[in-house]
Amino acid sequence: KVVAVIMVGGPTKGTRFRPLSFNTPKPLFPLAGQPMVQHPISACKRIPNLVQIFLIGFHEERDFALYVSSISNELKMPVRYLKEDKPHGSAGGLYYFRNIIMEDNPSHIFLLNCDVCCSFPLTDMLEAHKRYGGMGTVLVIKVSAESANQFGELVADPITKELLHYTEKPETFVSDLINCGVYIFTPHILTAIQEVSMHREGQANIRHLSSFETLQSPTSRALPLDFVRLDQDILSPFAGKKQLYTYETMDFWEQIKTPGMALKCSGLYLAQFRFTSSHLLAGGDGTKSASIVGDVFVHPSAKVHPTAKIGPNVSISANVRVGAGVRLISCIILDDVEVQENAVVINSIVGWKSSIGKWSRVQADGDYNAKLGITILGEAVIVEDEVVVINSIVLPNKTLNLSVQDEIIL
Ligand code: GDD
Repeated sequence: KVVAVIMVGGPTKGTRFRPLSFNTPKPLFPLAGQPMVQHPISACKRIPNLVQIFLIGFHEERDFALYVSSISNELKMPVRYLKEDKPHGSAGGLYYFRNIIMEDNPSHIFLLNCDVCCSFPLTDMLEAHKRYGGMGTVLVIKVSAESANQFGELVADPITKELLHYTEKPETFVSDLINCGVYIFTPHILTAIQEVSMHREGQANIRHLSSFETLQSPTSRALPLDFVRLDQDILSPFAGKKQLYTYETMDFWEQIKTPGMALKCSGLYLAQFRFTSSHLLAGGDGTKSASIVGDVFVHPSAKVHPTAKIGPNVSISANVRVGAGVRLISCIILDDVEVQENAVVINSIVGWKSSIGKWSRVQADGDYNAKLGITILGEAVIVEDEVVVINSIVLPNKTLNLSVQDEIIL
């Protein structure tokens, strides 16, 4: 049997995702019309012998209750939310709930970060892991040397694929091969995490008895005993000990820390739907008569005027109304938004219940990594008729009656 654990973090983590994380926890923000966390959940569902999926985080229980019950019903597979009383780190959270995770006595545990976007080649990883042996296998990818330092950089044996060396977000370049935040482990990982916290306890006692404080590294000294990070505390020390192996993906992979990356990843998932769930894409079936360009998702409850032109990379959520002559390109339109006649939205995310007036434009240049590279309207923003909003972030409940550019409207 196999179980999967998805680490969903908590409210202190999603700060770069503001203003979109004010009311919706980042893992439930829709990409390609589905909550971010549903993409890894759907991938887990395809693993043979998977019996349960756990989401571990320190968000409020009530934020996830409705979602986990509806997705459990839909997939006919138990998906449970386990709430930590405080952050335990990416490995400590797993250990904290070890008894629940081991209930079905699984032979393997998948562990996934919720904020990565990829094709999740989990079954291939499982097979590779069984060939390698050892405690765990890490999904890895080659990225540009300039971007590698935002991630865990690693060195793997080109033949055996063993993880030989691991450094989390190093200051000086180590390798362009990076950690994708997707892992498979045997239950031995739980013993390894326990050893880390026992070792830390031992060190704390030595410190207590002697006054050699300076021998301790400042980072490990500051950490509570039950706070264990998967990367620094497990991957680094176990590298080169024939315990950890790597599986390289040749597909797409991105990390979703900012709204700009959410828009990019929404497009990547829409493109993947062509192969995995083409019924979710608009056009083709003739039900939406608006003109559709490229990959587009339109929620069945949305009303789109037949003279609107939509796409590529557009995702339209529930109860959205799109008026006559509207043009939408590369955007996420959230629930209950109204886009009035002849308005244009390009490279933008439009928050829940917002309204965009006639002949107005909400747009950006589309640099996904720049702070103001996409325009974001928070919840319930009103853009009045003929107003132009360019490269800006507008906080919730604002009314814009004048055009703005390169601004954060507080
Ligand atoms: N439940 C829970 N509790 N989840 C947590 C906690 C915690 O205390 N701390 C972090 N997480 C979750 C986050 O929500 C995220 O899904 C994942 O664990 C990793 O978060 P971080 O530890 O903040 O690391 P990161 O995202 O900056 O980088 C990690 O992922 C990269 C791939 O996206 C590292 O493992 C990098 O090496 C890796 O490249």
